[in-house]
Amino acid sequence: MAQQIRRVLVWSGWLRFTHGIVVFAVLLMLATGWLIGHSPTVAEDALEVHYLGASLLLFAIAVRGFLGFFGKGAERFEHMLPRAAELPAIRASLLFYLSLGKAPLPNWFSHNPLWKALYLLLWLALLALAFTGWLMSGRPILFGIYLPHFHGGLATLVAVWVAAHVYCVILQDVKGDNADVSAMLNGNRYFTIDKAGLVKPDVPQVSIKLDDIDPSKRR
Ligand code: HEM
Ligand code: HEM
Repeated sequence: MAQQIRRVLVWSGWLRFTHGIVVFAVLLMLATGWLIGHSPTVAEDALEVHYLGASLLLFAIAVRGFLGFFGKGAERFEHMLPRAAELPAIRASLLFYLSLGKAPLPNWFSHNPLWKALYLLLWLALLALAFTGWLMSGRPILFGIYLPHFHGGLATLVAVWVAAHVYCVILQDVKGDNADVSAMLNGNRYFTIDKAGLVKPDVPQVSIKLDDIDPSKRR
């Protein structure tokens, strides 16, 4: 069947910029956080770098928050809320990831339908890490919760979350046709469209009355 490939800009420059910063900041904070907890000899220096990463992360959260409320299209947070109509695509995505890419990959425009709510939660988890990190050196207990434990536990959860995310996007890229990983770098995803489905022949509907073909009226 005849097919057409369209290259469409789905990720704006600002969204890609916040993704790049958040990747760098989170990896830096996981590494320095691990050193703080496990390597007393470098813990002090690691904490300094951890605070440096904190400024980067807060900057990314602020820009992404602005885009989420005042941006356009895929940038807006309401776009990341799951809708009932997407349930079949959510189910199909889950099957795709669990079958290591053997089940078919569904179609979507920007955020994967299964992941989009998880991305929103991930931004909230990063905000919670920033809040507890900022609070815990002066006030380690809040509502009976020991904040350093909460901070360390949430950071471990984020590490698992990010590992699952990277597994899923690489699988999407390897098995799918949309070039998802380079899309997060250059902004464009590829969409394959059936030409037959795109261009429908416009057949005019003609109705003729018997009177119209009266031979006496023909010349
Ligand atoms: C610390 C590591 C990472 C974090 C915290 C992270 C976080 C995120 C977040 C929050 C989004 C949603 C974008 C938005 O804000 O609307 C996203 C999307 C995406 N990320 Fe990452 N990311 C990480 C690493 C990576 C890496 C290493 C890659 C490439 C191999 C990658 C590729 C993508 C792609 C392709 C999407 C769009 C995927 C889709 O919805 O189908 N990410 N990431
Ligand atoms: C953005 C603002 C953040 C601030 C201000 C902050 C601050 C801190 C502070 C003060 C500590 C305790 C150091 C000590 O015990 O003396 C800490 C530990 C830690 N942080 Fe953060 N943090 C932030 C974000 C993050 C993020 C985003 C992650 C990971 C994704 C992370 C992972 C960790 C880990 C793993 C530890 C060690 C916990 C332990 O001792 O088991 N932090 N952070």
